[in-house]
Amino acid sequence: MGEQPRHAIADSRVSARVQSFPESVIREMTRLCLHHGGVNLAQGFPDFPAPLELKQAAKAAIDADLNQYAITWGAPRLREAIAVAVKRTYGLEVDPGRDVTVTCGSTEAMMAAMLALIDPGDEAVILEPFYENYGPDAIVSGASPRFVPLRPPDFALPQEAMKAAFTTRTKVVVINTPNNPTGRVLRTEELRLIADLCVDYDAIAVTDEIYEHIVYEGLRHVPMATIGDMAERTVTISGISKTYSVTGWRVAWAIAPPAISDAIKRIHDFLTVGAPAPLQEAAVTALQLPARYYEGLLQLYIGKRQRLLAHLRAAGMSPVTPEGAYYILCDLSDLGLVDDVAFAKWLVGTVGVAAVPGSSFYSRRADGSHLLRFTFSKKDETLDDAGARLAALPELLGRASVPGIERRGA
Ligand SMILES: Cc1ncc(COP(=O)(O)O)c(C=O)c1O
Repeated sequence: MGEQPRHAIADSRVSARVQSFPESVIREMTRLCLHHGGVNLAQGFPDFPAPLELKQAAKAAIDADLNQYAITWGAPRLREAIAVAVKRTYGLEVDPGRDVTVTCGSTEAMMAAMLALIDPGDEAVILEPFYENYGPDAIVSGASPRFVPLRPPDFALPQEAMKAAFTTRTKVVVINTPNNPTGRVLRTEELRLIADLCVDYDAIAVTDEIYEHIVYEGLRHVPMATIGDMAERTVTISGISKTYSVTGWRVAWAIAPPAISDAIKRIHDFLTVGAPAPLQEAAVTALQLPARYYEGLLQLYIGKRQRLLAHLRAAGMSPVTPEGAYYILCDLSDLGLVDDVAFAKWLVGTVGVAAVPGSSFYSRRADGSHLLRFTFSKKDETLDDAGARLAALPELLGRASVPGIERRGA
């Protein structure tokens, strides 16, 4: 098998599958941040309260003794509420009894979809940079990933590279719009190109739309399932973690045509049985919130995006303004960044701000080693605390030699 990778677990009883991917860099940064008492702009979870209505609904559900297993593929009331919300927002007809599987987070939905669709050797086209889970999702399901790079500054879909990535072995294309980490929102023409390729190669689009309600610049989220007849060959994944600021509740869903839904339900049943029953009930309340809730959420994040952009610019970080989601990528090439992991560890230890090294979003780590990702899903005070700490950065960089930074002309 050759040399063990650096992240290998030193015990030969552990499966080769597990040895082939590292632990989550994002969660590692969170641990380092706790250790150093830093400000955590690494992991994308809000540090502000969840909506009161949701908390009350969850408590009421527990008090009403909704504490046993829900139907494995989701409480009927929640599946119904998901179908109503999808119809209201995008005009899509979804049969709640047939097409919806409620899962423990979109994390489970994505893994269950891949396990339901992939046979070893099937190819998965993955747009890059990508949310770090898709790498292990591909490995665990046995897919051979084919990465298509989206390049800064606009991260537009490269048409020719996309066409070249599809082959007769392509089974799925994994899409995430609005995107983590770039914030890119795919345009209708780009989705059409992917849809045409899916039809030509009889492939399925698995789309992670968890940030569907966090879209700026007057842009609009377009679900892949609304393009032509793509609903027949799309697994749409979304959930309540980001839209309703409840990442710890672990409630999400996959919407797919009947046979694919049956396959996802089968995997889901044996993976987790079901998402937490009382929190599924509270998710019904979430999906019934009025339009002004979503307007408020967007205003909140527009303000936070501006705030963090200003702090990052002041620290000399060259942030890329995101079109959606709640992350900002910074290109630190101008500062001489060559080793994002070493620098991120130094940043959290010395400056006290945790960010995610850009390499964790790339198949070839070197492609992201000049990038860092910061989240702005935090209280204004948290963002300002991070800003105050980052203000020291230009001087620190000028004075000392810093891990991960290569000085030009030095
Ligand atoms: C693109 C993307 N998909 C999925 C998730 C995880 O979502 P969930 O909490 O529903 O598992 C995240 C969390 O950061 C994400 O950024």
